[in-house]
Amino acid sequence: MKTIHCHTPGETDLQCAAQILKMGGLVAFPTETVYGLGGNALDKQAAKKIYQAKGRPSDNPLIIHLASAADAAKYCETNELFDRLAEAFCPGPLTIVLPKRDCIPYEVSGGLETVAVRIPAHPIARRLIEIFGAPIAAPSANLSGRPSPTSYSHIENDLDGIVDMLIDGGECAIGLESTIIRIEDGNRISLLRPGGITLEMLAPFAPNGIYVDPCVEQKISDGQKPLAPGMMYRHYAPDAPLILLEGSENAFFDFLRAEAEIGDLPIGVLCYDEDTRIPKNAVAVSLGKRNDPADQAHRLFSCLREFNERNLRVIYARMPEKTGLGLAVFNRLIKAAGYTVKKL
Ligand code: TXA
Ligand code: MG
Repeated sequence: MKTIHCHTPGETDLQCAAQILKMGGLVAFPTETVYGLGGNALDKQAAKKIYQAKGRPSDNPLIIHLASAADAAKYCETNELFDRLAEAFCPGPLTIVLPKRDCIPYEVSGGLETVAVRIPAHPIARRLIEIFGAPIAAPSANLSGRPSPTSYSHIENDLDGIVDMLIDGGECAIGLESTIIRIEDGNRISLLRPGGITLEMLAPFAPNGIYVDPCVEQKISDGQKPLAPGMMYRHYAPDAPLILLEGSENAFFDFLRAEAEIGDLPIGVLCYDEDTRIPKNAVAVSLGKRNDPADQAHRLFSCLREFNERNLRVIYARMPEKTGLGLAVFNRLIKAAGYTVKKL
């Protein structure tokens, strides 16, 4: 397939993109979290195409993207808590799972009776949805299993020749996918995937606390199911095995020094800007400033892709803090590591 590459999207380009969506085609577009691979959310054939293009299992449902929270009631059963959350956080990096209406095909909801709804803040995404005039179903625009795309080169690497159009919006501001929550019985909140809207920000809306799906922090045992089907799949994995190290700063650098001397291939280290004691023969990639989880979130997926440009024996990363946005960074890292943690 010949893909249209659009680098400085203007109104006419977005009209062209909307036309492609109307004809059942696929368009990758920027959002403030990660790039999305969009198709018409009301068209089951378009949903099938999305799964096919990504190589994604069809039981892993898609998020529908709307231009305004006021449109949500057309596609799902909203409630008062939804309205209050939307007022506080939408448009923005929050996805809310609610019972779906019949117009949303099961191909989009992965066979579930619920649908995930998000109102993105990125102006290109918003304008595209507005012109299209209907919800856009969009998973992250990566091939299944790869890190989510946070820059144009990522979508070009993954989807050139596979989808109809790629829209350049530069680097995604947040860099990690949206927070996903489910509203239970109209008033309780469950966290399915951590992201830019943190537990701390959601707390005032949940006087009885927020249920955190165990798979956010740990590997779930056989037979258990995560609340978000996608959390079950191996994700984000770089080519070399990634291992998280837990221990003191001194133990971390001592371990790296010993490891860097072993084997024919170099080791990779996911470090912070402030780290000065990385062994010279290791391939160091900085995740950002040590005390700045927003910077780390912004860079994480690019860092994971960068390691793939080198032939490495193993990649080591330090265990991040789990508070605030750190929980989302930790969740993506531990999944990329296949839950392998080594205590030092
Ligand atoms: O930031 C984001 O959310 C990006 C941008 C493009 O909006 N999208 C994104 O989509 O990350 P995706 O498909 O990569 O991840 C969607 C996650 C999956 O884990 C899926 O299982 C879950 O949302 N999900 C979707 N619908 C659901 C539902 N009805 N119930 C539970 N989980 C759902
Ligand atoms: Mg994804």
